[in-house]
Amino acid sequence: MSQGLAMPKEEATLFIKVKEICAKHQGKSSALIQIMLEIQEEFNWLPREILLWLSEKLNMPLNRVYDIATFYKVFSLIPRGRNLVKVCTGTACHVRKAPVMLRRVTQLLGINPGETSSDLRFTLETVGCLGCCALGPVVVINDEYYSNPTTSELEKLFKECQ
Ligand code: FES
Repeated sequence: MSQGLAMPKEEATLFIKVKEICAKHQGKSSALIQIMLEIQEEFNWLPREILLWLSEKLNMPLNRVYDIATFYKVFSLIPRGRNLVKVCTGTACHVRKAPVMLRRVTQLLGINPGETSSDLRFTLETVGCLGCCALGPVVVINDEYYSNPTTSELEKLFKECQ
């Protein structure tokens, strides 16, 4: 954010939260990853303007900030949905019909893996083995694991996601 630049209300609100997070860590550059994690948790992604602001505020080169933002899979540089849906496509889930499960989920959500719904409600991802193969095929919705959910169970679960 450039100082003195007029910005939309939404963006101003966003920066209030970012400033709070930064202040909580006394603006220390050594806390960059933790600050970014908390921003990511708050907004589900890391907007470019925030990374620019962090770079200035923490007196760190922008490429260093971007190196971290792109190195860790937990960070996203594109908007993500408020609800993260993961379908395991690991080997054990695959043989237990994960492709059928994935088709079911993509049809219900209307998005493909790697995509986010236009209303920012859902992001869909495929993941490798989650370590609970006996439950396969596994669907994870906001860190809750579901074993082979039916279409109607998924419908109900997705409806509960705001
Ligand atoms: S392959 Fe899906 S949990 Fe292991």
